[in-house]
Amino acid sequence: MRKLLVLASLFLAVFGRKTFERHQVLRITAVNDVQISLLKNLTDHEYLELDFWREPVHESLPVDVHVPSTSLHKVKSFLKNNKIHYEIMIQDLQDLVDKEQQEMMRFRAHQPKSTNDFDYTNYHTLDEIYTFIDMLVKENPKLVSKIVIGQSYEGRPLNVLKFSTGPNRPGIWIDTGIHSREWITQACGTRFAKMIAASYNRDAALTDILNTFDIFLEIIVNPDGFQFTHTTDRMWRKTRKPNPGSPCVGVDPNRNWNASFGGPGSSKDPCDPIYCGPSAHSESEVKAIVDFVQSHGKLKAFVSIHSYSQFLLYPYGYTKTACKDKTELDKLARKAVAALKSLYGTKYKYGSIINVIYQASGGSIDWSYDQGIKYSYTFELRPSWSSPDCGCGFLLPADQIIPTAEETWRALMVIMEHTKNNPY
Ligand SMILES: *[C@@H]1O[C@H](CO)[C@@H](O)[C@H](O)[C@H]1NC(C)=O
Ligand SMILES: *[C@@H]1O[C@H](CO)[C@@H](O)[C@H](O)[C@H]1NC(C)=O
Ligand SMILES: [Zn+2]
Repeated sequence: MRKLLVLASLFLAVFGRKTFERHQVLRITAVNDVQISLLKNLTDHEYLELDFWREPVHESLPVDVHVPSTSLHKVKSFLKNNKIHYEIMIQDLQDLVDKEQQEMMRFRAHQPKSTNDFDYTNYHTLDEIYTFIDMLVKENPKLVSKIVIGQSYEGRPLNVLKFSTGPNRPGIWIDTGIHSREWITQACGTRFAKMIAASYNRDAALTDILNTFDIFLEIIVNPDGFQFTHTTDRMWRKTRKPNPGSPCVGVDPNRNWNASFGGPGSSKDPCDPIYCGPSAHSESEVKAIVDFVQSHGKLKAFVSIHSYSQFLLYPYGYTKTACKDKTELDKLARKAVAALKSLYGTKYKYGSIINVIYQASGGSIDWSYDQGIKYSYTFELRPSWSSPDCGCGFLLPADQIIPTAEETWRALMVIMEHTKNNPY
């Protein structure tokens, strides 16, 4: 522990890392609408600097909130005074961040020579994943290529892996890491890439898919945010573009799409974690995907991967009106979560975004669906939202990366096979 503390203070000195010492994450269970409304009002008190990991929506879903040490007393008194039940989900957030950093050090001593040698049981930095991408392309030149679809605000390449066995194929899109702090997603993306490359001509089902479709996989949709989670603030969610006239940086890249842009379930306040941005597709990270999808013109599935909560969701988020393929999408989701569960018993809820979580406008899969990509889905990976669980939220222990990737892959295969068997 002492060693860890020394390390932590060293980092702070070198990089100016944000520390979370004595910050807690509370899991709050509201029992009625009044309590939900009180919790929603809490979000208006900006001086408390609350960071909602799971927003107050309705009584059936607990709220997880990261509370800085300076606000803990006020928040706990507020909850007690209003008789709102809570438990401490994370006792000291910095302890988990330190543990994660220490695990990552394990890898630093060992630079992989190939993607076989890559440590999939660990989290990785942006540069390590960029290197991984280049190694995978080099090792599989006939199957895998790298397309740069644009640049992030800070000038980083937006790399997409293309898995292809023939010309002019329809495509399947998969992305991870649009919200930078959701580290399990980029880790799973890396693992998926290796699995696809290793399974062609070995796994019959995947080979069939790759003989029909190209698969496009963007592992780090938000590289500036991802870099920032490593160097400065582990809990960063948004892009890193400054907002003129505001001290707050960044836009929520999953509220920035032209699907009821700026509507309910997004915010016009640049300091809000769900800030939609000045205009639809204002973020180059989003615009790059929009341009890619439109110029490709033949994408048949679009899957965007987030964490956490263990949900598989389909459109819409912006309206209660059922999407026209609801019956088929719902049936397919049920099949996909059953396949996912068959591996380790991990339970997922499924349904439309607005029915399962909350109303959200400007989300990517609502946009892709409205572009005519019928099989549009979003995952919220491990951990779940029900107690007891890991008590970790976005800091899922690295030993869960491979199981999470494997079970999620089962669900992805169900979606991809259905897409193959139901051409449109
Ligand atoms: C929340 O705030 C609104 C507006 O300030 C107020 O009308 C409402 O009564 C508050 N809710 C509760 C439960 O106090
Ligand atoms: C958003 O979509 C509407 C049509 O629904 C279109 O008129 C508008 O130009 C689009 N905006 C952007 C930025 O693509
Ligand atoms: Zn997310």
